Amino acid sequence: MTFSKVVTILASWLVVSIAGAAITSTSSLSHDICHGLEYPKFTVLNKTADWELRHYGPTKWVSTNTTAMFRDDVTSQLFSLLFRYISKENAAHTKIDMTAPVATKIIHGQGPNYESELIMHFMLPFAYWDSPIAPTNPAVTIQEWPAMDIYVRSFGGFAKEADYMDNLAKLSEDLTGSNFSFEDAFFFTAGYDGPYTFVNRHNEVWIQKK
Ligand SMILES: *[C@@H]1O[C@H](CO)[C@@H](O)[C@H](O)[C@H]1NC(C)=O
Ligand SMILES: *[C@@H]1O[C@H](CO)[C@@H](O)[C@H](O)[C@H]1NC(C)=O
Ligand SMILES: *[C@@H]1O[C@H](CO)[C@@H](O)[C@H](O)[C@H]1NC(C)=O
Repeated sequence: MTFSKVVTILASWLVVSIAGAAITSTSSLSHDICHGLEYPKFTVLNKTADWELRHYGPTKWVSTNTTAMFRDDVTSQLFSLLFRYISKENAAHTKIDMTAPVATKIIHGQGPNYESELIMHFMLPFAYWDSPIAPTNPAVTIQEWPAMDIYVRSFGGFAKEADYMDNLAKLSEDLTGSNFSFEDAFFFTAGYDGPYTFVNRHNEVWIQKK
């Protein structure tokens, strides 16, 4: 499936590029964006006014998945399974700190009737990377991601499905316009705030570089 077809399909769910100097620097997100929580470290490889290209090293996550037509229909169900894992529903009966962001991989058209597969992830705190505590719920698994380069577009507000799709479309348009190659079978949403943050909310869409 081509990306433009995907965007067309996504249009049924809802549904500019500025030259930038190449930079390489170890980067960090502000304490405010991450609320002082641990988050995966990255290096910025390129940046324009509209997006940045980040290099992430290998990372470890706890995850759970489902299939759905609409992301907003299943996010609270997925979130609560992961929240139970960090709230002692794990083999060591240990409370595990929350991290940022909540990253959801969305694979287009994997389910029946072109439903998407949604895989929600909380990053494991660094202290657990060497020996992650096993989940007790079989719907919850530990995942290791290899290093990857990700194009990121950031936006504010209370992000609903339509906002993620709108920003995904803009990011893919920018990358296509620059002839950058990227994975078009899936993308990620990354949310940094709980429901009780009312100002300076930060959301991202991620597209993996090919
Ligand atoms: C960085 O992005 C700009 C804008 O699209 C592009 O012209 C440039 O080639 C990119 N540089 C690298 C190193 O990818
Ligand atoms: C969740 O992921 C597992 C492993 O990839 C897969 O076997 C299962 O079918 C998925 N469940 C749903 C509901 O997509
Ligand atoms: C992208 O590739 C097309 C076809 O090869 C070319 O015509 C166009 O000039 C390229 N655009 C950029 C921004 O490099």
